[in-house]
Amino acid sequence: MRKNLILLLCCVVLIFTGCGPKQEMVKKELFGTYKGGEVYLLTLTNKDGNVLKLTNFGARITWIELPDRNGNKDNVTFGFDTFDGMVAGDRYFGAVVGRYANRIARGKFTLDGVEYTLPINNGPNSLHGGPDGWHSVVWNIEIVEKTEYPTVKFTYRSPDMEAGYPGNMDVEALYTWTDNNEIIIDYTLTTDKKTVFNITNHAYFNLHGAGNGDILDHELMIKASRFVPVDTFLIPTGEYRPVAGSPFDFTTPHKVGERINENYDQLIFGKGYDHTFVFDNTDEVDATVYEPVSGRFMEVISDQPGVQFYCGNFLTGKMIGHGGKPYNYRSGLCLETGHCPDSPNQPAFPSTVLNPGETFKSRTIYRFSVK
Ligand code: GAL
Repeated sequence: MRKNLILLLCCVVLIFTGCGPKQEMVKKELFGTYKGGEVYLLTLTNKDGNVLKLTNFGARITWIELPDRNGNKDNVTFGFDTFDGMVAGDRYFGAVVGRYANRIARGKFTLDGVEYTLPINNGPNSLHGGPDGWHSVVWNIEIVEKTEYPTVKFTYRSPDMEAGYPGNMDVEALYTWTDNNEIIIDYTLTTDKKTVFNITNHAYFNLHGAGNGDILDHELMIKASRFVPVDTFLIPTGEYRPVAGSPFDFTTPHKVGERINENYDQLIFGKGYDHTFVFDNTDEVDATVYEPVSGRFMEVISDQPGVQFYCGNFLTGKMIGHGGKPYNYRSGLCLETGHCPDSPNQPAFPSTVLNPGETFKSRTIYRFSVK
């Protein structure tokens, strides 16, 4: 009797001091090895049991499991079930992209009178830091303890002249998965030589569930009264164009597919939407996506100057992702926050230069709910 009482008391103390059995917030499992580096799968579970999976191969998001309005869970981002599938598959699904996300015209830019040459990997241009950019390197992992929410920090030192860019650059991507179903990504960058950069996350979203049809019925809102027109190689013409009166006006919600086939020059050049929208920079949410069948809703909040809205025009169905599902034409959309393409060659755009002694810090949040 006395023993039972003591046991009961111990349990009460353990529960109230929070020392009882606790759900593991971040699980780390070996996934494979790449060029001698160990690649892990990190499973982050929040209070409601919703799961975000990350990997240090490209500091990627590879799985975001969320309920629809009836509580049925599904994964809403593109990725692969196996390590081999991931390495052989699309380079950019969910990855952190750098040193320069998006295109630099003809793979050249000049800084303080010195011309730098980058790898050409997209028509005549350099795309997403070249073929071996930050999306395909093995990052270091730190599971951040003593935080309220599951948190993982990826770090990488991009060596001087990597893919042609000057300066050793230290980059950090800190992912936090909150109980409010928010993925908070905090980027921190420093350099030891003057350089240029543009960092983003390249997750593809389909709020029906990845691999479940196209995204043309997703209702998109972007708080941007201007966008960046491009040429046929998707290089900016150098101006901003007002969205008003055009199929690029998403200042109020429109279905992605509603105007996509209109005879409008930029839809033809971009083969659909594949353009930077310049945020109006209100202190509120910058973009939203609503999928009416499941009721899933995504908000994007960022301090970056704009967002590349890409609607999967280059997807062909050849990539077979999670659960053996093909990722077909326009079956995913990306909202890649960052600077404009080709800024190092475009004097009218905000500067993408980073100097030694400066620290670039930026936050983007993808917040999920149902309506
Ligand atoms: C996007 C870009 C697209 C395409 C895609 C990767 O960031 O805007 O044009 O290159 O990446 O397939």
